[in-house]
Amino acid sequence: MKKINIKNDLSLSRIIQGFWRLDGWNFSTGDLVRFMNECIARGVTTFDTAEIYAGTLCEMLMGDAFRKEPQLRKKIELVTKTGIFQQPVDGEMFGYYNTTYDRIQRSCRESLKRLAVDDVDLYLIHREDPCFDPWETARALEDLQKAGLVREIGVSNFDPFKFDALNKATGGKLVTDQIEWNPVCFEHFNSGMMDYLTVNKIHPMIWSPLAGGKLFSDSGELYRKALRKISQVAERHNAAPETIVYAWLLYHPVGALPLSGSKKLDRLDLALKALDVRLEHYEWYEIYTASGQQTLR
Ligand SMILES: NC(=O)c1ccc[n+]([C@@H]2O[C@H](COP(=O)([O-])OP(=O)(O)OC[C@H]3O[C@@H](n4cnc5c(N)ncnc54)[C@H](OP(=O)(O)O)[C@@H]3O)[C@@H](O)[C@H]2O)c1
Repeated sequence: MKKINIKNDLSLSRIIQGFWRLDGWNFSTGDLVRFMNECIARGVTTFDTAEIYAGTLCEMLMGDAFRKEPQLRKKIELVTKTGIFQQPVDGEMFGYYNTTYDRIQRSCRESLKRLAVDDVDLYLIHREDPCFDPWETARALEDLQKAGLVREIGVSNFDPFKFDALNKATGGKLVTDQIEWNPVCFEHFNSGMMDYLTVNKIHPMIWSPLAGGKLFSDSGELYRKALRKISQVAERHNAAPETIVYAWLLYHPVGALPLSGSKKLDRLDLALKALDVRLEHYEWYEIYTASGQQTLR
């Protein structure tokens, strides 16, 4: 599979495998090693996780796989994230963000330990933090790079203002924004992030490309309207609706890298088939407007 160069010598696979839901897959460590090897055999070499997934369990399960088969690490590009935390306060769990120097330094080292690796290829700030000092966060990320613990740095779910702030503080070092985009979610078209990324030639990673499966399982009106149109386009191309959604994401000039979140390899294969599908220009707009949320002026 063609890889996308996102900075210097770091290239990511055009389709990425996400491991957010790994704790619910009921995989043994052996199953997970096999699954990872099947991804690699398909050219899906970039693996995404985060410290907060299942309260750090997802990183631990991946670490078990890397310990069982240490050669895996050399064959992949590993991405993890920090910045979201939960702790008990007055008997209830409270969620908040923390992008301070000390927390980032500590989190990264803890993630590497759980993952049983010496470094990660890409380290992301998971969410916009309203109590955020871009200069302090930048210093923390750059010091991790200097220490050889992370190769490249980026963010997730940032709007153009927050992205610009941290990018400026890092001297332009951010290599991606991992954002949600699918046929029922247009936040980053409406925030201007897609234009910001396109003009600056920064490739976004795309989470929940199938709306977390809801495109196919949710009977809400938005999902039904979107799926009806996607299925019509799919029939024209003699392809599965899932493939058409990925083809729609890949068509955009921003050069998106979608993250597949399925535990099923045949569903990953439906994503990979999109690399051979070329939508008509008007078809991109059919899907863009299908749910009724986006209108053309
Ligand atoms: N940065 C962030 O804030 C953020 C947030 C969320 C996720 N992520 C990353 O993005 C990755 C992908 O997100 P995602 O898991 O939401 O992606 P997704 O691919 O949109 O959704 C995957 C889910 O959809 C189900 N599914 C797939 N095809 C289906 C179909 N035809 N019918 C019914 N269900 C179907 C899968 O079930 P099966 O497993 O049974 O196939 C799985 O539960 C995550 O793993 C994570 O790495 C990042």
